[in-house]
Amino acid sequence: MTAPRIAVVGCGYLGAVHAAGMASLGLDTVGIDVDAARVATLQAGSAPFFEPGLDAMLRAGIDGGTLRFQADAAGVEADVWFVCVGTPQQPGSDAADLTFVDAAIAGLLPALREGMLVVGKSTVPVGTAERLAALVEPTGARLAWNPEFLREGLAVTDTLAPDRLVYGVRDGDDAAVAALDEVYASILARDTPRIVTDFATAELVKVSANAFLATKISFINAIAEVAEHAGADVVQLADAIGIDARIGRRFLGAGIGFGGGCLPKDIRAFRARSIEIGAPEALGLLDEVDRINQRRRDRMVELVERELTALGGGAVAMLGLAFKPDSDDVRDSAALDVAMRLAERHDVVAYDPQAAAPAARRAPQLRIVDALDDALAGAAVVALGTEWREFRELDPIDVATRTSARVVVDGRNALDRDAWTAAGFRVVAIGRPDRDPSAPRDPSAPGDPSAPGDPSHDQEAR
Ligand code: UDX
Repeated sequence: MTAPRIAVVGCGYLGAVHAAGMASLGLDTVGIDVDAARVATLQAGSAPFFEPGLDAMLRAGIDGGTLRFQADAAGVEADVWFVCVGTPQQPGSDAADLTFVDAAIAGLLPALREGMLVVGKSTVPVGTAERLAALVEPTGARLAWNPEFLREGLAVTDTLAPDRLVYGVRDGDDAAVAALDEVYASILARDTPRIVTDFATAELVKVSANAFLATKISFINAIAEVAEHAGADVVQLADAIGIDARIGRRFLGAGIGFGGGCLPKDIRAFRARSIEIGAPEALGLLDEVDRINQRRRDRMVELVERELTALGGGAVAMLGLAFKPDSDDVRDSAALDVAMRLAERHDVVAYDPQAAAPAARRAPQLRIVDALDDALAGAAVVALGTEWREFRELDPIDVATRTSARVVVDGRNALDRDAWTAAGFRVVAIGRPDRDPSAPRDPSAPGDPSAPGDPSHDQEAR
């Protein structure tokens, strides 16, 4: 049996990584994207965004002759066509915008023949696959829905070694299952769980997974709000409840909350779709998840302003703008949002190891510097918005020589409070009591439970 030839339609985040991943599995792969500049960048072997390991995987595929990119489907001979285009939030609505999915399918129809398989990977409202199948099937081709669970910053690993594969197919479509099995043969050979189901369940698996993750984060952030009023410590609390295997410690990282191109828009689209299909009460929970998430951003602004007021004013050094570490993505980034809101009323100097350029495009009014020291130099308050390793591993004794600030507001509960208070900083955090450098500590007390270095406390094992 000859290996299936792959086309990937849409080379944004998901598609670029998927195309490179398929090529690295040894499959002949063509990535197709309407954006000629993006195609040229990818064809030159470099990713149009920051993603650890992706450049190397692109170059290996291109140099090895298994991977190429082009601006349309002309001349492409493929057996399996993956649809990886974006489904952003519609302007002025919570619903997903399916323009790109519809255009991708319409563009593919003339190329489709008997025996080909179209595989949707984009995150779509439930019911979309059924609607698209009605367009694809008359050509003799089949449709399957195969959602993608990759995390930014870990996208290469998540593509090559996913936790599970989910195939949504028409009832009894063994040929579609067999074709996907061929594509993923080397992943399945490692006993990766594979779930074969119908279109609707496959679509819902993806949005339910994201809704659950968002709910977990907002749950701990709601507890953080209570902890702030009770004088309790949400990080110790998360450690304690997270030991229960039924709960688990991951995604209980309290802080300024979730952002990015997926979780916020996916929970809104999921809620909107549930209302459309006649279950208006089912996911009211997700509205609350969204509200809790927004309130944590407000809280961070409030804490920084409170500290500035106590100091009689001064500048803020904003550390981090990306929505999470190891990414230059600033879509719906909590850190960027906080920085922009603070900058409306205060002098803010921001620094991010990777996201400076995308952040500057989105917030041209924000002062973003290229070196950490330029942000720290004139600051009165240091605010942590994204827990890059570079920040988590800062030596506070050294930082104290690089800034006159003696207050740090940790929006991610990522800093070692003991080390920072010992170095003379006041440490303010989300959902935890403030710590002053002068406060005497009980020498018999255990170490700071949030201290970095213990992987069990990482939000994600990076
Ligand atoms: C998410 C899903 O994890 C992934 O499976 C899906 O395919 C796409 O959406 P991603 O957006 O890359 O992936 O980021 P993720 O690691 O899930 O983090 C999302 C946001 O939640 C980030 O802003 C992060 O800072 C925040 N977060 C995460 C917390 O605030 N606390 C946590 O404990 C974990």
